[in-house]
Amino acid sequence: RRVAVLISGRGSNMVSLIEAASAPDFPAEIALVLSNRPDAAGLERARQAGIATAIIDHKDHPTREDFEQAMDAVLTEHGIEFICLAGFMRVLTDWFVERWAGRMINIHPSLLPLFRGVHTHRRALEEGVLIHGCTVHFVVPELDAGPIIAQAAVPVIPGDTEESLAARILVQEHSLYPQALRMISDGSARLENGRVVFSESW
Ligand code: GRF
Repeated sequence: RRVAVLISGRGSNMVSLIEAASAPDFPAEIALVLSNRPDAAGLERARQAGIATAIIDHKDHPTREDFEQAMDAVLTEHGIEFICLAGFMRVLTDWFVERWAGRMINIHPSLLPLFRGVHTHRRALEEGVLIHGCTVHFVVPELDAGPIIAQAAVPVIPGDTEESLAARILVQEHSLYPQALRMISDGSARLENGRVVFSESW
């Protein structure tokens, strides 16, 4: 299936998806990288990998709906069937989320349902949790609240800073996201009545 990766910045998760999907047996193709920021570093990395790119700058659009209509048009133009949000920093309206319901996933840098929203690593350190991690989940209208597909945990180590913790988790993100996309794309994980169910062979 044809997948678009939506980014706003660095795009390291995007790179891990592109690399995984370049394997001949991978059940999905990264057909487009779309950024809402013209200066996103990930765009150049996508071009280098030979992936089609598009920029829909939210600043060029008067409303969120208008911005999302423009994104939706580009996604349709490229025959996109599935979306991976990867560091995409715009909140999506219910219209867009419903339109892509069951066909849009996100990676979030915490063990959901803990630490929804931003600054997850700072908040994890403030709370003193000893286990932290990342989650891939389906996107629903409520922020960072959708059905969970995959998670990875890491220890919090004495002396950790936001940066050291983020870096330890990012390593896990880079293997978790392709793994989750693979499971959804080959049917070994699927959405049923608002929950993710896993096939027995997995
Ligand atoms: C990642 O930590 C991801 O979990 C979060 O934003 C960051 C994006 O990093 N949603 P990158 O752009 O993929 O390098």
